[in-house]
Amino acid sequence: MSTVGRDLASVELTARELWQAGPPHELFERMRAECPIHWTESFEEFPDEAGFWSVTTADDIHAVSRDWQTYSSERGGVLAALGGLPLELAQAMFIGMDPPKHDRLKALFQAGFTPKRIAAHEDAIRAIVRDILSRVEGREGCELVNEVAQPVVARVIGSFMGIPPEDDTMWANLMNSTLGASDPELNPHGIQGAVEKDIPEIFERCRKLIAERREHPTDDLTSVLVHAEVEGEKLEEHEIVMGFFLLVAAGNDSTKATYCSGMRALMEDPSQKQLLLDDPSLVPAAVEESLRMFPAFAHFRRTATRDTELHGQKIKEGEKVVMWYVSSNRDETRYEDPERFDVRRNPEHQAFGAGGRHFCLGTALARLELRILFEETLKRFPQMQLAGEPTVVESLFINQLKAMPVRFAPAAA
Ligand code: HEM
Repeated sequence: MSTVGRDLASVELTARELWQAGPPHELFERMRAECPIHWTESFEEFPDEAGFWSVTTADDIHAVSRDWQTYSSERGGVLAALGGLPLELAQAMFIGMDPPKHDRLKALFQAGFTPKRIAAHEDAIRAIVRDILSRVEGREGCELVNEVAQPVVARVIGSFMGIPPEDDTMWANLMNSTLGASDPELNPHGIQGAVEKDIPEIFERCRKLIAERREHPTDDLTSVLVHAEVEGEKLEEHEIVMGFFLLVAAGNDSTKATYCSGMRALMEDPSQKQLLLDDPSLVPAAVEESLRMFPAFAHFRRTATRDTELHGQKIKEGEKVVMWYVSSNRDETRYEDPERFDVRRNPEHQAFGAGGRHFCLGTALARLELRILFEETLKRFPQMQLAGEPTVVESLFINQLKAMPVRFAPAAA
């Protein structure tokens, strides 16, 4: 659906037709130029949900993200697109809490995510990636999202959390049908189905694993969380369950999304792929460019705790404010030619959030995993090409491909 020539005030950003091929980048470009703080009146799918402000420029998102006193994560939850998710559930994860509750829990979880702990996994992650690439080698091609990316991310986060490998697919499916609940193919029962069936199952399985680790500690993250202490205080059981859910959800989804979209961009512009083949030391810069252009999460949300003003726009207490990273990462005041994918750019970006209390906990793990995924895929399949049109997940939240057929060598003439 084109919005060219339409008055922006009449545009409902949540209209599904706008998102069918992924985020509506042309619309966001207009919003940044003409109406950087934009009001959408309602959600098509969630008529009870009040409207929201969209924040579209990098500077404004930076300001919102750092001011947790004015823009609360807790009061209305951080997810706009999963509007059917009960607020109590959103508030039980530390991503949906404000300080001081948030800070205490995050500090405890950080014990499992120190750069040293993450770096120690490099060899193990590389072995996982190589093993999964070997499974598709020898064939003409594969479906990159579900045959490579999904099993890799599921095993990496699975090995962190202590999930047995035979359960990876089950966990990945539970997470996909929860986070991708707006896509009928990923979850025919929608968000209500996720709340009634998938989420209780996730919690039940978490509790079982936690009980096992209490009895028999290992060196996985679940054991670290079960036994972690800050100033003599341990985590409560429900805090571990919610944290486990948050980590497995973030770990299963985000890295997969960025890797697949980055690989697509490389295949669509073989000269960019060639730059990486000629000089693999550019891979970390290509990772940052993929994060910039294809942030795995299109947005997170805040709720105003008082009347305030942003970029000249009055915002009332209680109103919802959505930070669109898919827009700010292409903000022309920050990037030259922002729509161009350039592996040499090595940009700063807001894919992991824009600083502040909720800055992503998993950045070191995500960056390491992405670097290894790009390195190993390009080494093993330097001639990889698209073998069909990729499909995208229907979602305003997860910015992700659903399937991408590839071949490993150019098709015979
Ligand atoms: C490409 C990969 C990733 C992207 C783009 C990403 C993005 C983000 C963003 C934008 C936020 C900020 C939320 C907010 O401001 O409300 C966030 C928070 C978070 N992320 Fe990530 N993430 C990624 C990978 C991971 C991984 C691998 C993990 C862990 C396994 C993880 C765990 C978390 C957690 C726990 C939070 C909440 C932090 C807090 O509330 O203090 N993320 N992530």
